[in-house]
Parts: sequence; structure tokens; C-alpha cells
Amino acid sequence: MILAPSLLSCDFSTLGSVVAELENAGVQWLHLDIMDGMFVPNITFGPPVIGCLRQKTNLFFDVHLMIEEPSRYIEDFVKAGADLIVIHNEAETHLERTLAKIKGLGVKAGIAYNPGSTFMNLPWLVHTIDLVLLMSVNPGFSGQTFLPSTYKKIERCRKLLDEYSASDVLIEVDGGVTPDNCAQLVEAGACVLVSGSSFFAHPPYNTRLEAFMSRVQNDTTINWKHL
Ligand code: DX5
Ligand code: ZN
Repeated sequence: MILAPSLLSCDFSTLGSVVAELENAGVQWLHLDIMDGMFVPNITFGPPVIGCLRQKTNLFFDVHLMIEEPSRYIEDFVKAGADLIVIHNEAETHLERTLAKIKGLGVKAGIAYNPGSTFMNLPWLVHTIDLVLLMSVNPGFSGQTFLPSTYKKIERCRKLLDEYSASDVLIEVDGGVTPDNCAQLVEAGACVLVSGSSFFAHPPYNTRLEAFMSRVQNDTTINWKHL
């Protein structure tokens, strides 16, 4: 399992030092939540902030785009230093084209599904993705309560991916993740877990990371070259 802390829950005035501390604590992935006030009722930050953070760290940047028509900004996020770009199923008309564009720029691509969305389109997208992100809260804010329906959804998604010869596609879960539910999430088939409020509420970061990692049997191997 990979635990990806979401910067949404940290003090934005200290982003640079938080990122350095996370790296020292042994974190591998950083989850960056991009919100436009349209797709979700909240606004965060964009490529300039990611570009500044890229100068400070080699951490893997998992960029979660909660914006309408993300195809307009793919080049900007790649230039800023994204390693993985996740777009929402509900935010783009031509999903396959945008995912292929991300891959064509040499970056990993992912598709996210809201809690109320089905993944009927997944079989037709598996060839262009590296990861599926399942939202376990309705996107927009950190600190919301985990939706237990997520467990079954992970299992169904894993089954579908295996059925379509896409066993190497990772499942990421985002929203309300804590040390108490992470084992069940991994057991259901997830291998990247995002945590915002639960992670940042309990410093120091190295012991908090361990609080999550110690709950799971950690046999995740990800052969992505820049990890
Ligand atoms: C919600 C974001 C999440 C959020 C997670 O829209 O996509 O990444 O920051 O925060 P917690 O773990 O507090 O739910
Ligand atoms: Zn997120």
C-alpha cells in the first residue's frame, strides 16, 4: 500500500517546509487536489504552486483534477511537474482523448469516479490508464465521513479490471481514509490510499505514516519507473 497525504489538509502558508518534512518522514506520494469552484464547490491552487513545490522535492506528484474540462490544462500540469494526472469521469466529454493526451506527454494517467457514478465505461478506457481513483466521499472538501459503500465498489472495480486484462491498473481511494479503515480498503483491492485530515491531525509525520502502514500487509510492488 502507498499512503498519499493530501496537502488540502495542511497549512498552505508552510507548503514548502511541509513537503520537505513529508519526504523526510518516508512518504512516497503527494496527493495534490486541484479544484476550480465549478466541478466542486471549492477552489484550491493550480500549476504555479505545483511548479514551485516541484523545485523542493522529488516526491511522486499525484495530481487529482477536480475541474471542468481538464483537457484545457493538461500541458500546464505536465510542465509544472505532475507524475500522475487523474481526471474525473464526470468532468470531460472525450475521456479517451484526454487520457491518451496525458499518456502521450509521458505522464501516468488516471480516471476518477464519484461515489454516485458507475464505471460502465471502464472497459473502453483500460488501455489508456494506469490508475482508477474511487472517491469515498463526494469531492470538494477534506474532513468528510467515509462512505462504506466504497468497499463493494473497490471489489467490483478490481474484478472488472482483471476481466479486461488490466490487472496492473492500480486502484486509489480518496476521502475519509484513516488507520482504522485502511486494512479493509486494501483487502478489497485498493493499493493507493489518500489521507488528508486524519493524516495531518496527528504529527509527527513519520509516526503517523507508520500508524497507517502498520495496519496493512504491505506487499505492493509498483514498477513505475519514476518510483
Ligand atoms: C476531497 C479530496 C481529498 C481530500 C481527502 O475532494 O479529493 O483528497 O483532501 O481528505 P480527507 O482524508 O480529510 O477526506
Ligand atoms: Zn483528492
